[in-house]
Amino acid sequence: MLTHRPREPLTLGDTTFRFMTAAADEALATARSLAGDADVRIGGGPTTARQFLGARLVDRIHTVAVPVVLGRGTSLWEGLEGLERSYDIEAASTPSGATHVIWTRRTSEERQRP
Ligand SMILES: NC(=O)c1ccc[n+]([C@@H]2O[C@H](COP(=O)([O-])OP(=O)(O)OC[C@H]3O[C@@H](n4cnc5c(N)ncnc54)[C@H](OP(=O)(O)O)[C@@H]3O)[C@@H](O)[C@H]2O)c1
Repeated sequence: MLTHRPREPLTLGDTTFRFMTAAADEALATARSLAGDADVRIGGGPTTARQFLGARLVDRIHTVAVPVVLGRGTSLWEGLEGLERSYDIEAASTPSGATHVIWTRRTSEERQRP
């Protein structure tokens, strides 16, 4: 858990939450060391996710757009213009109008292809 108010770890059931103030790369290194061979998932609001996206640390992104107009909010994409050029993108919509978009980062070789 990224927070500016670090505290002692909290265990709930099988999960231990650790609290830290850190840059995205440092937080990811910590999560990786704790995860072993498992994948590391980044959850959260846009302020958190955008730091990892901006540092180009994310291999796979799953966004879901739902047809609900809030009229305000914090942008996930601000400052990330052109991010899509580094990803292959697949999308699927449900009858309710929710659209799932899966972004998979291209390898450096793939990125050089026209
Ligand atoms: N759609 C979704 O999947 C989803 C998921 C989560 C939230 N949300 C929505 O997102 C909105 C909140 O957005 P948000 O961008 O403010 O939330 P956020 O990214 O979840 O949280 C921001 C907070 O995380 C902490 N933080 C982030 N980066 C940090 C860092 N590098 N070091 C230390 N602390 C760090 C700070 O908390 P402190 O300074 O308070 O410690 C900061 O105020 C809400 O409306 C919520 O409903 C949506």
